[in-house]
Amino acid sequence: MNSKHLSPPIDESKGIIVDLGTGDGRFVYQSARQNQHRFYLGIDASANSLEKISEKIHRKPAKGGLKNALFIQAAVEALPEELDGIADEVHIHFPWGSLLKGIATGDETMLKNIHRICAPDAVLEVIIGVDPERDATELQRLGISNLSEDFIATNLAKRYQDCGFQINEIGSFPAGQWPNICTSWAQRLGTNDKRSLVYFTATAAAYAA
Ligand SMILES: C[S@@+](CC[C@H](N)C(=O)[O-])C[C@H]1O[C@@H](n2cnc3c(N)ncnc32)[C@H](O)[C@@H]1O
Repeated sequence: MNSKHLSPPIDESKGIIVDLGTGDGRFVYQSARQNQHRFYLGIDASANSLEKISEKIHRKPAKGGLKNALFIQAAVEALPEELDGIADEVHIHFPWGSLLKGIATGDETMLKNIHRICAPDAVLEVIIGVDPERDATELQRLGISNLSEDFIATNLAKRYQDCGFQINEIGSFPAGQWPNICTSWAQRLGTNDKRSLVYFTATAAAYAA
């Protein structure tokens, strides 16, 4: 057997990274290529978004295949029980629709679903890109009145805490000064000179259900 063709073993102690609302899976694919000892799982409600990338990861390694990535079609509102407690990191990048609504309003059902898939002390990272003018109608439709750092630190942090997440870092970047984020929507939205970025990270702790 030629060892040059073997993938590095997956180090389970380094944990599983889950990307919710993964879209075309770019973050999962690129991260999995760069960190072959870690395992990446991309989840999205839309089967269409996942079609190409799911086919790609099953190719031979020389043609872009990967053994340490997997994609699952599921809504965050209905994550399979098999995922309970598996995630050491959960990423949510540029959520939209019902995912944005749940994350930005601190919806209890959605947050508890996300908490359910977290291992103890898992890290949740949320990145949202907003253009207050262009997104006004959609934000109103989703019942999102505020996405400022202050609002996250006060109102939203309390809701997250009630669902087992301790928000510990909040930050933002003005339009035109986004950091480099490896997702397709980061590239698409980052070119808009009015869209700012707000992010927060949280740790999953136990909560009294
Ligand atoms: C704007 S895209 C961002 C995709 C990717 N994270 C990126 O940054 O390129 C939002 C994604 O969230 C997915 N989504 C929206 N609501 C969802 C839900 N309730 N459960 C799972 N995925 C959802 C959509 O299908 C879409 O692919």
